[in-house]
Amino acid sequence: MRQHVNPLSTFFQEVRELPKPDDLFENSDLPICIDIGCAKGKFLMDYAFLDSKNNYLGLDIRQKMIDRAENERVERCLNNLRFLFCNVNVSLPPWIKSLKNGQLGKVLIQFPDPWFKKRHNKRRVLQAPILDVLASKMNSGAEFFIQSDVLDVMNSMIDVLDLNKYFDPSSSKKQKLIKSNPYNISTERELYALQNGLHIYKALYIRNSFGL
Ligand SMILES: C[S@@+](CC[C@H](N)C(=O)[O-])C[C@H]1O[C@@H](n2cnc3c(N)ncnc32)[C@H](O)[C@@H]1O
Repeated sequence: MRQHVNPLSTFFQEVRELPKPDDLFENSDLPICIDIGCAKGKFLMDYAFLDSKNNYLGLDIRQKMIDRAENERVERCLNNLRFLFCNVNVSLPPWIKSLKNGQLGKVLIQFPDPWFKKRHNKRRVLQAPILDVLASKMNSGAEFFIQSDVLDVMNSMIDVLDLNKYFDPSSSKKQKLIKSNPYNISTERELYALQNGLHIYKALYIRNSFGL
């Protein structure tokens, strides 16, 4: 079992300036889909290969994984995809704020690190401030997809999303859950969960028209 990286450690508080979309993608006018905590990036490489109508950005706090993913992306000539190393809670907000309104087409958080202990819950990646910044640049109808095999993690993400003004709250947590993966490509953790018979919770939120 790998040791999780503590995103609140001093080292990960330094803001990394992320390259602008013009410097990342061949056609920077396309909507951007962000995979937060992409790890080895296999899911995103398959997704970007099948869909040239969007740009894809995979982010992870583990630099070695991102370096390997970036090398593989270059070998596969995927010019609508980039992988960047950063602590998303620290370095992503300024980058997102520089985007045009509606430029963010999709956000995915799949099997985030669970941080089971109550005192560690604040290390979980989906927190209200970053969600607010992300949602502010999503277009009406844009998708925010979350999945986890840990019910407590899933419920904490649903709580954050339900409180956000850019998404309509569900009357019950159960109502938000969907049965199958809307993208028909599994992440590595998803494959592990499926192979080991773990229950997977999935929910798809749609950005409302607030502020647009
Ligand atoms: C359990 S793995 C899931 C990987 C992949 N999404 C999957 O489903 O197979 C969670 C990933 O999120 C990354 N991560 C955790 N906190 C992060 C943060 N604050 N910023 C960026 N990445 C983070 C971890 O390094 C790890 O690779």
